[in-house]
Amino acid sequence: MEHLAHLQEIYNSLPIEEALRQTADLFPGKVKFSSSVGQEDQVLTDIIARNKVGITVFTIDTGRLFNEVYDTLEKTQARYKIPIEVYFPQAEAVQQMVQDKGVNLFYDSVENRQSCCGVRKVEPLNRALQNTDVWITGLRADQNAHRQSVPMVEWLPDKKMYKINPLLHWSYDDILHYIKEKNVPYNPLHDKGFISIGCAPCTRAIEPGEDPRAGRWWWEASHKECGLHLVK
Ligand code: ADX
Ligand code: SF4
Repeated sequence: MEHLAHLQEIYNSLPIEEALRQTADLFPGKVKFSSSVGQEDQVLTDIIARNKVGITVFTIDTGRLFNEVYDTLEKTQARYKIPIEVYFPQAEAVQQMVQDKGVNLFYDSVENRQSCCGVRKVEPLNRALQNTDVWITGLRADQNAHRQSVPMVEWLPDKKMYKINPLLHWSYDDILHYIKEKNVPYNPLHDKGFISIGCAPCTRAIEPGEDPRAGRWWWEASHKECGLHLVK
């Protein structure tokens, strides 16, 4: 908690690569970036790798990702030559859930969907973030209404760590511009109407003008968050 004001100051005043570097220097070996391999996260991976910032990159393989995500992950590792840790859900927990509720349980109820996200995403995330002081994400404010009110730097009392969203105020156009300029590898599904990409059975393409996250859990009227970013 003691570094909150300082971190807020550096993310408000310094170029992103310098703010990330200072964060890594302040918490050596204790800064982790969660990448979904989506466009925002590819920008952050590029910045971290290009500037050789000492931040560990990890991704969660829920077991239900699009093939294109795996291809993009491979391309990313080949391009930047940095390790990307891959975390999986607990096999026993997935097995039990699928035996009890079926492999596509998420379509049946919001409760089932939240259980699946809990087992396949939230538990591995918590495991990945053990022994971490700072969690970096690729969240952007204009992704949905909930994210409008998210701060760039916050202290999570439950997790006892800082959460930093360095791209919070980037627009989608800023992301696209960076990707083009630096020739960053990205998931080809983004060019086919998929803006926000999660697990394959829970993501569809959106029409022009639709909310960027309308394709996530599209059968649900609300609940456009899986729980990864609802923790405090
Ligand atoms: S989600 O909560 O709806 O799934 P979203 O896809 O918008 O999240 O991504 C927002 C941020 O959550 C990403 O920038 C990344 O930091 C983190 N994230 C989402 N999915 C994953 C994943 N599979 N592995 C690691 N981090 C993820
Ligand atoms: Fe399960 Fe869908 Fe959540 Fe992925 S997004 S963890 S498949 S409910």
